[in-house]
Amino acid sequence: MSEPILQVQGLSRRFAGLMAVKDVSFTLDRGQVLGLIGPNGAGKTTLLSMISGTLAPSAGSITFEGRDITALPAFRRARLGIGRTFQIMRPFPDLTVLDNVAIGALFGNTNKKTLADAREAARECLRRVDLHGRIDHRADELGGPDRKRLELAKALAMSPRMLLLDEVMAGLNLVEIDEVIDVIKSLRAQGLSILVIEHVMKAVRSLSDHVLVLHHGERIAEGSSEAVLSDPAVIEAYLGKRKA
Ligand SMILES: Nc1ncnc2c1ncn2[C@@H]1O[C@H](COP(=O)(O)OP(=O)(O)OP(=O)(O)O)[C@@H](O)[C@H]1O
Ligand SMILES: [Mg+2]
Repeated sequence: MSEPILQVQGLSRRFAGLMAVKDVSFTLDRGQVLGLIGPNGAGKTTLLSMISGTLAPSAGSITFEGRDITALPAFRRARLGIGRTFQIMRPFPDLTVLDNVAIGALFGNTNKKTLADAREAARECLRRVDLHGRIDHRADELGGPDRKRLELAKALAMSPRMLLLDEVMAGLNLVEIDEVIDVIKSLRAQGLSILVIEHVMKAVRSLSDHVLVLHHGERIAEGSSEAVLSDPAVIEAYLGKRKA
């Protein structure tokens, strides 16, 4: 009973002589979490940026909710319901947590025209990621996991139906990782479809309905997390190098 929300077909991206993503195809089913893994430089962020629209593909197509979005600019995709986080987070440091999120509500897939409406929507997003206790703090006062919560809330403020998460656990300790895993699980339970790039294997295992592995821009494995993470080709390409 699966229905795709996202279909990626033959997607490639070349940077000068380098094929960063090579003929990658996959489907994300509605309400599911797809884990996207692979060693550093495998092409994960490049793939995500082509889906969010911040980077143009060299070849291939992207279909979101049945509509070909390959040629749409990023802001139109955001309005259709595609939200993302960035591997390098850039909150406005002097703005409050609330206003950092309200900005997302003003520009996303919403009809929040006034700052008051946007702040109201932002409060709700901050509740969803359990950061509503800190709405008046400046963004630069937040610690590790709260910064990740803020990044998630900013993405939620655009009212996405699909979320693209780029290494939101990076730099967190084990306890903090568990907290963020719980937040992402609750977002899935709220009906969001999620594509999650993650190096933290515990998170990949506990979150993903399905896992896709990239290596040198190519898909080398796809399937359940148990199957994929025990695949010798994946261990060779990825886990072997990151055991430390
Ligand atoms: N704008 C760019 N110009 C030139 N090369 C790029 C550009 N962006 C990425 N690359 C190259 O494309 C390849 C894939 O990079 P990408 O950032 O997608 O990898 P990644 O899987 O996200 O890695 P990481 O786990 O380190 O975040 C790398 O070799 C990278 O150097
Ligand atoms: Mg990356």
